[in-house]
Amino acid sequence: MVENVVQIIQNKKTLSKTNRFITNEEINQLVKEHGTPLYLVDEGTLHEKVLELKNAYEKFHGHVRIAYSIKANFNPSILKAFMKDNVTFDLTSLGELFFIRELKINPENVIYTSVTEELEEYKQVLSYGVERVVVSSYFGLINLSQAANIVGIVPKVMVRINPEVGVKAEVRASYKNGKFGVPLNGGKVDSAYYIVKSIFSNPLLEFEGFHFHLGSQITNFVCYINALERLNSLLNKLKKEIPNFSFKTLDIGGGTPVFYNEPVPTPQEMASIYIDKLNDLVAYHGKFTLMIESGRFLVAESSIMISKIVNTKEYNDHKIVILDTGYHLLLDAALLKQEYPQEIVSNKSNNNHLYFSNSNKQYTGKNIHLAGRLCDTFDVFPTSKISDLSYANLGNYILFYNVGAYSLVFNMPFHCQTKPPVLMKTCNGDIKLIRKGTSFNDLYIEEGGSIP
Ligand SMILES: Cc1ncc(COP(=O)(O)O)c(C=O)c1O
Repeated sequence: MVENVVQIIQNKKTLSKTNRFITNEEINQLVKEHGTPLYLVDEGTLHEKVLELKNAYEKFHGHVRIAYSIKANFNPSILKAFMKDNVTFDLTSLGELFFIRELKINPENVIYTSVTEELEEYKQVLSYGVERVVVSSYFGLINLSQAANIVGIVPKVMVRINPEVGVKAEVRASYKNGKFGVPLNGGKVDSAYYIVKSIFSNPLLEFEGFHFHLGSQITNFVCYINALERLNSLLNKLKKEIPNFSFKTLDIGGGTPVFYNEPVPTPQEMASIYIDKLNDLVAYHGKFTLMIESGRFLVAESSIMISKIVNTKEYNDHKIVILDTGYHLLLDAALLKQEYPQEIVSNKSNNNHLYFSNSNKQYTGKNIHLAGRLCDTFDVFPTSKISDLSYANLGNYILFYNVGAYSLVFNMPFHCQTKPPVLMKTCNGDIKLIRKGTSFNDLYIEEGGSIP
């Protein structure tokens, strides 16, 4: 039955559009002012995505809360935009907590899910007033309890389970003997069962609920059904053992996919696969808040990167197009072979056609290869099925779509490369600088160049 539903959904996968929020004239003008490479973020898309994700779960029989996983993109202006949507912020490190503090984000709107779970870390988290903490090991629970005692706060503890289900995704986060979370019944103390019982017997802690994160860019949603079924068995077991057992929040992590090469289901189509399972949990175990903790879906389509074609060469019927960007700015192109959709925009002040006679006519998308500027074999850009590389000629611009997630945050200085500026188109249509580009001098100093 489940397989049938999945098949139906997969047959009518919705083709998301690339999000072109800027005209060719504006692109030419912005490049004149800021150069290339250049990132552009559309604020309106950020707000729309929050709404789309929330609406996808409208059939859930309880309260729904959207959390933004700031690891996907921690640019302060993007965080400020999401503050307007009153989302919860999902953090994983003290560095991310620093950003949240600087922005004076209400700690009630924070959920902290650490991998390291150190005592010092938890002391700082609780001292800022964050109450909702997700533990992923028994050692983490001990540290949290000690931190709670020192700081004098009773944290609302969630337990990150590793349901150990098979996941079809670009990045899998739940697998047998995996790094994240604890098994339901596995190890002696590192099991969800044991940890929940420990929380109930510890007056320094309050039990809030469960968390799982199955992976990113998930394309088959049966894994949610399997994870919820496994959670249901655990809940039944806990109910038998703990007389006053109940939970208030279930966080089902991220995974909502984004269009790159293949059409993907919408969040609503995705939710429809397992919404009944979620409602069954409400029916059997009482009302709870459902937390959807998304990174990729909320930011990916908000952003475009503009790069310039700076060299070309031809091998009989193949053309290599060399750009002034590389995997130092779009790491997932190399790491995950991410097929970002691309489009050529003509450079209005391009005089190169005066020197080169390439008509480009003999080249189709298939025999044009995009390569980055780095001296590294892996610095090539796979193309999306909807990439249009006609007129991939010297001097023209190339847009990379859907680059808002897991790209800015991976910018790196390999080959002494600098960080490009980031501009935001605000909801009232203004374009503002939200991150300055860095210079070679900045990099030299940062790398210790001024140390005698
Ligand atoms: C715990 C947790 N929650 C949520 C997310 C966000 O996932 P996605 O970007 O697929 O929405 C991640 C991503 O790694 C994560 O580790």
